[in-house]
Amino acid sequence: MSGDFQSVFLTEAQIQNQVKKAAEWLDKRFEGKKPLAVSVLKGSVMFFCDLVRAMNTPVQIDFMTISSYGSSTQSSGMPKIVMDLAASVEGRDVILVEDIVDSGNTLYKMRDLLVGRGAKSFTVVTLLDKPSRRQVDIKADYSCFEVGDEFIVGYGLDYAQQYRDLPYIAILKREIYEK
Ligand code: IMP
Ligand code: MG
Repeated sequence: MSGDFQSVFLTEAQIQNQVKKAAEWLDKRFEGKKPLAVSVLKGSVMFFCDLVRAMNTPVQIDFMTISSYGSSTQSSGMPKIVMDLAASVEGRDVILVEDIVDSGNTLYKMRDLLVGRGAKSFTVVTLLDKPSRRQVDIKADYSCFEVGDEFIVGYGLDYAQQYRDLPYIAILKREIYEK
């Protein structure tokens, strides 16, 4: 483990175990349907790939890149679309896949946008939920893990674009980002 970390928060095995459960939940909910799974990049990329492969339901996939942080650990509250979806969501059952719901601003914006574009249904699955930091009243339909007020990295999650490639999730030492 890197000296930048306080501790490991979730091992690879713990993550994969919950990915399987989330996939089962989605398979039940979307039986007989052809949903469009949307990955909110870059953070959800690892979770997204593991999740759609663990599902039995055939899904189409698409991607949207949202940026809200720059290099800080505080959300700007104004998430920007850096890259939009290729597919139309009109009349589609959309599964939005997030890495973490923190302030809730990103999710709020995504829901507004995709429901506004005519999605038939909108279901949110997040790997992590940080409810203590919520600024807007919004919740994922399914959440794998809850996390306290810590900054975590790995398995897609970054600090200043680092650590996304780790297969586990670790708590970043405060001295790394409180410089
Ligand atoms: P929001 O504050 O709910 O809009 O979350 C915005 C984004 O911030 C999330 O989708 C993550 O990409 C990122 N984020 C929030 N908390 C953390 C964290 O602890 N580590 C890494 N990224 C985070
Ligand atoms: Mg994100």
